[in-house]
Amino acid sequence: MDKVDPQTLLKKGAEASLFLKSWHGRKVIVKTRFPKRYRPTELDAKIRSYRTAHEPQLMHEAKRAGVPTPTIFLVDTKNAAITMEFVEGKQLKQVLPHIPRKEQQELCAEIGVLIGKMHRSGVVHGDLTTSNMILTEEGKIFLVDFGLGEKNREVEARGVDLHLMKRALQSTHYQFAEDCFKHVLKGYASVLGEDAEKVFEKIREIERRGRYVDERKQAN
Ligand SMILES: Nc1ncnc2c1ncn2[C@@H]1O[C@H](COP(=O)(O)OP(=O)(O)O)[C@@H](O)[C@H]1O
Ligand SMILES: [Mg+2]
Repeated sequence: MDKVDPQTLLKKGAEASLFLKSWHGRKVIVKTRFPKRYRPTELDAKIRSYRTAHEPQLMHEAKRAGVPTPTIFLVDTKNAAITMEFVEGKQLKQVLPHIPRKEQQELCAEIGVLIGKMHRSGVVHGDLTTSNMILTEEGKIFLVDFGLGEKNREVEARGVDLHLMKRALQSTHYQFAEDCFKHVLKGYASVLGEDAEKVFEKIREIERRGRYVDERKQAN
């Protein structure tokens, strides 16, 4: 009988499963995208293979830009599996509510710095939530889950990325979302300088559009 590697299922998401494994003496995460039955088989294989190749590329670009991301060890497009460094730490989502305001603000500013570096390198993340950020013992923040990300330098894409972060903060950390987002923007501006202002204007525009749509819905 084949020897089966011991592995622990960490998470079964909508698109992928994450396993914690021991691999050549180190702890790794294997992220596997499983087939979706509702998609024609061939198309499904193509989509999974594309995303499996694409996500590590973006993580690599972000890392090169100075954003901590898990080191990629193996990309298996045929089986839609990515083997990467297991980042030991806690999701920021779990940490933020339990620390003093001052520390929250510092972490939020650091998140903004990381998003700024990532955007400056031409990557947008696509799912900036505090679940996709891991805080290590040494106080480093790692970004994970680039599955919805893309290479995009447009102001619109950057604005949407940050606006989604704001919405995520509001739904997960409504008690301090506003203050936290303010510090995210502060960190972001410290990296992007004048370019940040264009992105902030875009966020305001996105919010105006949202309000307009809401008003139209209520009027009908
Ligand atoms: N390399 C990693 N090291 C440690 N934890 C990870 C790693 N990658 C993902 N995680 C944890 O697992 C969760 C789910 O992984 P993620 O890539 O976000 O999958 P999904 O696309 O299902 O959201 C993340 O929110 C994060 O907390
Ligand atoms: Mg995720």
